[in-house]
Amino acid sequence: MKKEEAEKRIATLTLEINEHNHKYYVFSQPVISDREFDRMLEELIKLETEFPNLLKPNSPSQRVGGAITKEFATVRHKYAMLSLGNTYNEEELLEFDTRVRKQLGDDFEYACELKFDGVAISLTYVDGQLVQAATRGDGVQGDDVTANVRTICSIPLTLPQGDYPDRFEVRGEIFMHRHEFDRINSQRATDGATSYANPRNFASGTLKMQDSAEVARRNLDCFIYGFYADEEIFANHFEAMHRIKSWGFKVSDMLVKCKDMTGVLSYIADVEKDRLQLGFDIDGVVIKVNSHLQQAELGFTAKSPRWAISYKYKAESVTTRLLAITYQVGRTGAITPVANLEPVWLGGTTVKRASLHNADIIEKLDVREGDFVYVEKGGEIIPKITGVDIAKREPDSTPHVYATHCPECGTALQRTEGEVQHYCPNEGGCPPQLKGKIEHFVSRKAMDIDTLGSARIDMLYEKGLVKNVADIYSLDYDALIGLESEKEDEVGEVRKTSFQEKTVANLIEGIAISRKQPMEKVLFALGIRHVGDTVAKKLAAHFHSFQNLARATREELIAVPEIGEVIADSIIAFFEVAANADVVKKLAEYGLQMEVVHNETNAPLSDKLKGKSFVVSGTFVKFTREELKSLIERHGGKNSSSVSSKTSFLLAGNDSGPAKIEKATQNKVAVISEEEFEQLIA
Ligand code: IVH
Repeated sequence: MKKEEAEKRIATLTLEINEHNHKYYVFSQPVISDREFDRMLEELIKLETEFPNLLKPNSPSQRVGGAITKEFATVRHKYAMLSLGNTYNEEELLEFDTRVRKQLGDDFEYACELKFDGVAISLTYVDGQLVQAATRGDGVQGDDVTANVRTICSIPLTLPQGDYPDRFEVRGEIFMHRHEFDRINSQRATDGATSYANPRNFASGTLKMQDSAEVARRNLDCFIYGFYADEEIFANHFEAMHRIKSWGFKVSDMLVKCKDMTGVLSYIADVEKDRLQLGFDIDGVVIKVNSHLQQAELGFTAKSPRWAISYKYKAESVTTRLLAITYQVGRTGAITPVANLEPVWLGGTTVKRASLHNADIIEKLDVREGDFVYVEKGGEIIPKITGVDIAKREPDSTPHVYATHCPECGTALQRTEGEVQHYCPNEGGCPPQLKGKIEHFVSRKAMDIDTLGSARIDMLYEKGLVKNVADIYSLDYDALIGLESEKEDEVGEVRKTSFQEKTVANLIEGIAISRKQPMEKVLFALGIRHVGDTVAKKLAAHFHSFQNLARATREELIAVPEIGEVIADSIIAFFEVAANADVVKKLAEYGLQMEVVHNETNAPLSDKLKGKSFVVSGTFVKFTREELKSLIERHGGKNSSSVSSKTSFLLAGNDSGPAKIEKATQNKVAVISEEEFEQLIA
């Protein structure tokens, strides 16, 4: 086939696939069979493979994912992403209505819709193409998750011809259907991976995954509830939602107009009745003043619009008997009291345990073993005890006496003045704390062994195979194959973990790769108090090896820029403990990078930028932000995240934050482009 011909065919296929996709995922009304759909997609993929420069980022073939994002770029929202004020009862809602009426009089309408319980997303379209998907972040800037969002089939990548503006944004909620959540979560439990508390956490974790192909497998969905453009083209919210629906967006049918609070309250009651049948989670409803002019008249507070409010449904509550109070020791040594309950059915699951948080809460509620307690389920994994049914209390009951010693290792508990939590101070000998150290060691910013999740660490620890971080490197095929364990999790579910052929191969590979992590990562991974990733970097750059670092005196440590007494003392204390020194020695024997090794990606290049401090902001054409930062360091310069009078240059790319540029101008800091930077180091 000739290129021109292929181009035409690709365009036709794209159009048709998008249309069928829309019918299937937005309206659940497919008009062709899955087989026919797959055949069209296969043809498209074949053509795109044959003519790779005809492959467009928004081609429907990209829905399967594949792009890997190491670090999500930060992007600034064109229109701030605000939150909503909440109300929890009729009275609070009527107060909202009174405030609105005071400003607008009685001539207005409300639009009522579901409050989806997922993750907020902002989608930018230019000329009908999805160009960016960003999370809410702090409302001003969020993460660019476009590659992951492209895999969500109900989000259009290319809009068919329509009367939409050249550039606009829609806002909505990414979520996971209940049946999808149950399907994947129970599979994860069988595989020994950590399971998620609820679909919201699952959706949010999925959206931040590095591998978009995995995101694609998790079938996220998205409802749109907002439209933003520079020009006001719609008179009201209702009209806006209906029109964007006609452009291809998925808008919920449960959007209604109400004249007054009577209508709103009956909508709230109707939705509450049906909410469990929806198949996805909502945590309330949202009430918005419909007219855009009237919305503008009401305006905003610092955090939320005055023209909208949410009404949150009450968490379901039941009573049951508190059988015993036991204690859990966290990875950091924090102690959490746990209520062990007579099993009770609540919000779709059987609850056997609930958190009692800390000694103060137990005292405040005066909960005692044997009491009948009120249990509620909020958004968290672990349900809460919210009160005691005093009328049912046994006459001989006595107040609960809080634990004095660690249930795991027997060490006397401590509580710092002004803190609510008790702690077990036995960092180096208390099992959950040791497991916590191993978890930190393998985490992404440390040794990055992602095949070793917490369930697997638990199992290896319990089998005595990994007692400290160095033991990880002693693991081999024979030690791992066929290992199996069953364990109860926080909520009392039994979780199975087992090591099959493929798991073992992945694990061993992950461990082997981690041996190449540079010294700074190894240092950070050890979890020395006050030695975060930045400090670890500085120490590695200064001392070049663990040997030098371990030998450094307090004075030598403090002499390093930005290393203070607290950090110095903590490092000295760490190496003084024989067990720690031994772990470091073993890591060296296992071939980890205990010295700074210069290779082609981190070797110093010059000292052209010596004494210069840079802030890198925005996106660039030739380099990624990380590459630029690395170049700055390799030429002797320093990176900083915020502009101040000490900054030498603001290296600004596309979409560089206007606040940063303004600050640079104020402080007379030179703003340079990517090309100008290249000249600096040339
Ligand atoms: S409107 C300016 N409508 O609730 C107000 N938000 O606290 C913009 N949410 O982060 C929000 N369903 O993610 C709106 N129908 C709905 C919603 C909704 C869920 C979420 C949204 C936001 C949070 C507000």
